[in-house]
This record gives sequence, structure tokens and C-alpha cells, in this order.
Amino acid sequence: MTFEQWTRLVLDRVESALEHYLPAADVLPASLHDAMRYAVLGGGKRVRPLLCHAAGELTGATPEALDAAACALEMIHVYSLVHDDMPCMDNDDMRRGKPTVHVKYDEPTALLVGDALQSQAFITLTSDVPGLREAPSRQASLVRELALASGSIGMAGGQAIDLASVGRALTREELETMHRLKTGALLRASVRMGAVAGETPSAGTLRALDAYAAAVGLAFQVVDDILDVTADSATLGKTAGKDAKDGKPTYVSIIGLDASRALAQQLRSDAHAALEPFGAPARRLAELADLVVNRVS
Ligand code: IPE
Ligand code: IPE
Ligand code: MG
Ligand code: MG
Ligand code: MG
Repeated sequence: MTFEQWTRLVLDRVESALEHYLPAADVLPASLHDAMRYAVLGGGKRVRPLLCHAAGELTGATPEALDAAACALEMIHVYSLVHDDMPCMDNDDMRRGKPTVHVKYDEPTALLVGDALQSQAFITLTSDVPGLREAPSRQASLVRELALASGSIGMAGGQAIDLASVGRALTREELETMHRLKTGALLRASVRMGAVAGETPSAGTLRALDAYAAAVGLAFQVVDDILDVTADSATLGKTAGKDAKDGKPTYVSIIGLDASRALAQQLRSDAHAALEPFGAPARRLAELADLVVNRVS
């Protein structure tokens, strides 16, 4: 199977699973469920679900367990985007090529969509599927991984640092910490949760996967910073040029465009190096590292 065929297969599975795990649009309160589905379905690159499925191939996780973990990750991610776009944070009116949730609906709805997606992620993760129902300790590990990655020492903490940094010149170390939390933590969790969804990975396996995920997670936000400067809004599906306008410290503002590009390539080779112990079974993870670094949107 080529990488393109594999991604198509996973993306189709994940789209149907998201459709299944989100409450139907006619379930009360219908307006909230409609907005949740608007935010989640039919858009986004689904990088976290892809990483989760790829890592799960290393530990023989069932496709159903991986779908649940992938959907939970995507729900947390979308919640973070919906809140990130709100006027009290980045104040963006376009996301995934559509009006943001607070623009299409209203601010209270956007707040509640994020809140409810966060709960829905944990409902999904504790659902009754083959590979999870017979392994409560596996399920508990998944819940813990996701909670840690999304809370104050993960995504939410990174967002707090981001907001507190507007107009300030961060050191490179501070910038790296912010990126590792706001974006890296959930990408790292995507890889770890894929692995944890199968046979308990050894400490060595988790260490190697962590090294891979650390490189890919940081690379992802470095590339996001680059694309904010180099790509247009139509390609990105979100407003380009927003970081400089808002005075956000980014890799481009702190080390420049060329050094940022070089760093992304360095992180790509670090990611590949970390996968060496696994050989061929890790080929999807290697291809995903290339995708993250070479993407244009
Ligand atoms: C955007 O994430 C926000 C960051 C964490 C940089 P993605 O680039 O993964 O957004 P979608 O899911 O493809 O829309
Ligand atoms: C957002 O970072 C990270 C999270 C949503 C956790 P950005 O603010 O750079 O993301 P974009 O550029 O709006 O997608
Ligand atoms: Mg932001
Ligand atoms: Mg933003
Ligand atoms: Mg950005």
C-alpha cells in the first residue's frame, strides 16, 4: 500500500468514527450539537489521528481502539482551535476554510462547543470497543495521557504562555517551551496513545517514540509559524500573516525564516533517527514526519 492509499484509508475510517462518536445534530440541545459537528466534521488535515494510527501499528492495537483514540485526540484539538480563534484569544474569523464557530454561531456557543468537545473526547475514549473494553488499565492510561497533554502542563498551559507573550521578545528557550506545550504535547500524546492502545509498549519503545514525537511536535509548530508568513489565507484555510500583526513571538520572528526552515529539516532528520530501532514497521511514522515538515497548508 502506498502512503497516499494508507492515509486515505485512515482518514475515511476516522471521518466515519467522528460522525459516530459525535452526538447527532437532532439530539437536544440541537444547536450545540450542530455547532460541534460544524467544527469537527469535514475539515482539517487530521494529523493527530494519522499519528495515532501509525503508532498503533507498532503495538498491534485494534483499528477500533485506534479510531476511538484518534477521535478523542481530534476532539481535543478542535476544541483548542475553536477557543484559540475566539476574540479573547487570537480573534480569527476563518478556520479550515470556513467562518470560525463564534462567527458562524456566537461566542457563548463557541465556548460551549469547546467545553463539550473536551467531555466528548473522554466519553469516546471510554467507549465499549474491541481492544479497550477488555483492558480497563489500557483505557485508564489513554485517559491519563490525553488529560495530561491537554491540561495546564500541556496544551492549555502552552496557550497561557502564548497569550502572556504577545509583544514580548522571548528567548529561544522560552519559545521552544511554549511550542512544546501548546502544540507538541498533543502531538506527542497522539503517538503515545496509538502505542498504548495496543500491547503495553516497553520502556524502550516509549522512549524512542517520545524522541520521535518531540521532534515532530516541535517541527509542526515551527512549520505553522513559517506558513503564517509564507502561505496565503486561501491555501491555509485560516488568516495568513496574523502572527506578525498580533505581535506573537514565533520561530520566524525570533530566528528568521531561513533558520526556521533549516530547523524544521533538522527536526525531520531527528524524527527519522529516532525511528531506526523499529525498522520497516515504523515506515508510516517516518512518512508522517516528512508530511508534517513538507506540508504547504
Ligand atoms: C493548527 O493545527 C493549530 C496548531 C496547533 C498549530 P493544524 O494545522 O493541525 O490544524 P488542522 O487540524 O489541520 O485544521
Ligand atoms: C494554536 O496555535 C495552538 C492551539 C490551538 C493549541 P496558533 O494560534 O498558532 O494556531 P493557528 O495558527 O491559529 O492555527
Ligand atoms: Mg494561538
Ligand atoms: Mg491562532
Ligand atoms: Mg499559527
